[in-house]
Amino acid sequence: MGTDRETATPHKNELFTGSNKDFIIRRCTTDDLEGVIKVNEKELPEDYPYFFYKSILDNYPEGFLLACHRKNPDKVVGYIMWRIERTPSKKSLKLINKGHLVSIAVNKKYRRKGIAKELLAQSMPAIKKYEIKEYVLEVRVSNYSAINLYKKFNYETQGIKKKYYKDGENAYFMSVKTKDLAL
Ligand SMILES: CC(C)(COP(=O)(O)OP(=O)(O)OC[C@H]1O[C@@H](n2cnc3c(N)ncnc32)[C@H](O)[C@@H]1OP(=O)(O)O)[C@@H](O)C(=O)NCCC(=O)NCCS
Repeated sequence: MGTDRETATPHKNELFTGSNKDFIIRRCTTDDLEGVIKVNEKELPEDYPYFFYKSILDNYPEGFLLACHRKNPDKVVGYIMWRIERTPSKKSLKLINKGHLVSIAVNKKYRRKGIAKELLAQSMPAIKKYEIKEYVLEVRVSNYSAINLYKKFNYETQGIKKKYYKDGENAYFMSVKTKDLAL
């Protein structure tokens, strides 16, 4: 159990307290990666090696955010990570920067409390410094929770990537232009 003193002291990496005051959103550090990997392994079938997380953290730290319980701010209960890609725009061969959602997950025990919404709402503006024109992601066609979540931010389905996942499930490819983003 946390004390009142702990509750009142902001974590050194705290960025934002959302509408749910029990949780904080903060930047990830190298020390947090084991906690992130634990949440990922529990909540998603896609696992990545440690160096993958580390390279995302080293390259795009602004988009690698954690949700932690205010009373235990070192314990990761949710995370989001983005990478930046430079690819041709749909209309021309002009190269544009896109934010590509690598992964988001919230520990089951803490779901439906607005944590994922807050992770998205904080991380998307945070990576705007890379001159992002569009945010893109893939999501399992059966993942209604996540699809609903993305629609809240105005993401729209652009197509299907057949057998995108290792187990053969298809993915929706979704995107939203920076100017259309609902924050
Ligand atoms: C998807 C996930 C990240 C949502 O996390 P969360 O913190 O529970 O989400 P929030 O509480 O912020 O919910 C935001 C919105 O998402 C949608 N949503 C979340 N869970 C939902 C559910 N079980 N059923 C339907 N919609 C849901 C709703 O639109 C919700 O808004 P509302 O509460 O106003 O209705 C979480 O379910 C999770 O970690 N799933 C496993 C990992 C995963 O699938 N990641 C996505 C990979 S693409």
